[in-house]
Amino acid sequence: MPDTTYTGADLRAAAAAAIRAPSMHNTQPWRFRLCDGAIELLLDPARRLPVGDPTGWAARIGCGAALFNLRLALAVAGRPGTVRLRPYPAQPLVVARVVAGPPRPPTVAEQALFAAVPRRHSNRAPFWPVPVSPRQRWKLVEAARAENAQLELLVGAAPVGALAEIAHTANRVLTAAPGYTAEVRNWTRYADADDGVPVGSGGPATEPQDLLPGRPFGVRTRAPGRDFEPEPVVAVLGSPRDTATDQIAAGAALQRVLLTATDAGLAVSMLSQPIEVPGAREQLRLALGGRVGVPQMVLRVGYGQPGWPTPRRGVDEVVDER
Ligand SMILES: Cc1cc2nc3c(=O)[nH]c(=O)nc-3n(C[C@H](O)[C@H](O)[C@H](O)COP(=O)(O)O)c2cc1C
Repeated sequence: MPDTTYTGADLRAAAAAAIRAPSMHNTQPWRFRLCDGAIELLLDPARRLPVGDPTGWAARIGCGAALFNLRLALAVAGRPGTVRLRPYPAQPLVVARVVAGPPRPPTVAEQALFAAVPRRHSNRAPFWPVPVSPRQRWKLVEAARAENAQLELLVGAAPVGALAEIAHTANRVLTAAPGYTAEVRNWTRYADADDGVPVGSGGPATEPQDLLPGRPFGVRTRAPGRDFEPEPVVAVLGSPRDTATDQIAAGAALQRVLLTATDAGLAVSMLSQPIEVPGAREQLRLALGGRVGVPQMVLRVGYGQPGWPTPRRGVDEVVDER
């Protein structure tokens, strides 16, 4: 009879992978616990961004991404689980409950994605002018589809230009909002820390000629000639609807796309200003003709000089064992 409960050791191993997920400003808005032999992932409201994330959308995307890593870690250990999103309507902070299923060996695809977990990181630097092949593009689209999401890669100057315009407008709206700039500054790290965005990972400051607006994590002027690629590969990830559950599922889809990209040697940065401003998000949805459903993230994809993974709080800080 296989053991159908997870142990504290399973919890810690899965959480160690989960915490490598991306989160807005690297806030890491998650906690993990064992409950009657199941692993539960909770949203930590103390780590939600009051200005940048008033609805909790970003925290749910981050938790969904963490859940994907957690699922992978359990599968690679031969102990895959069955996931229920938001299992207790009265406890909305419980994002997911993972119940142990029958043991089985991991698939080759699961092993490849899991191996990408420690290597994945945001790359905000200019990319090389190397095209992303149709096969690589297809892999990213399929990764989103496998998690019930849609990824649309924008082709041609007109769609990319339209997105760029929406993104700049959203960026202007955010920059003018009270408390926004101070919050971004508060999560920018100039010295060692276990959360926030290290200034060295923040990417160069946006300049007037840039097609897309970066997030201002510190002020790093760009070396002369190091402009961004003129024709970036830009993708929009969307979900069928926009409930809290949809947003968690979209986070899992995002992480599957990011790990697939890492496994393929691609670099990615995220750009969520057009998602954070409701009017801009709606404009983006309409500009895409509804093809991705509700936009949940914008990605810039390409090849570039690898950066390095950013810090995380330790497993002890995010796991509740009882
Ligand atoms: C919901 C969400 C929104 C994000 N928005 C942006 C963004 O607009 N600009 C950006 O440079 N990075 C963005 N990121 C990336 C995070 O800053 C990044 O994941 C975090 O700093 C951890 O770094 P890592 O991705 O290298 O692990 C976003 C990530 C998430 C999950």
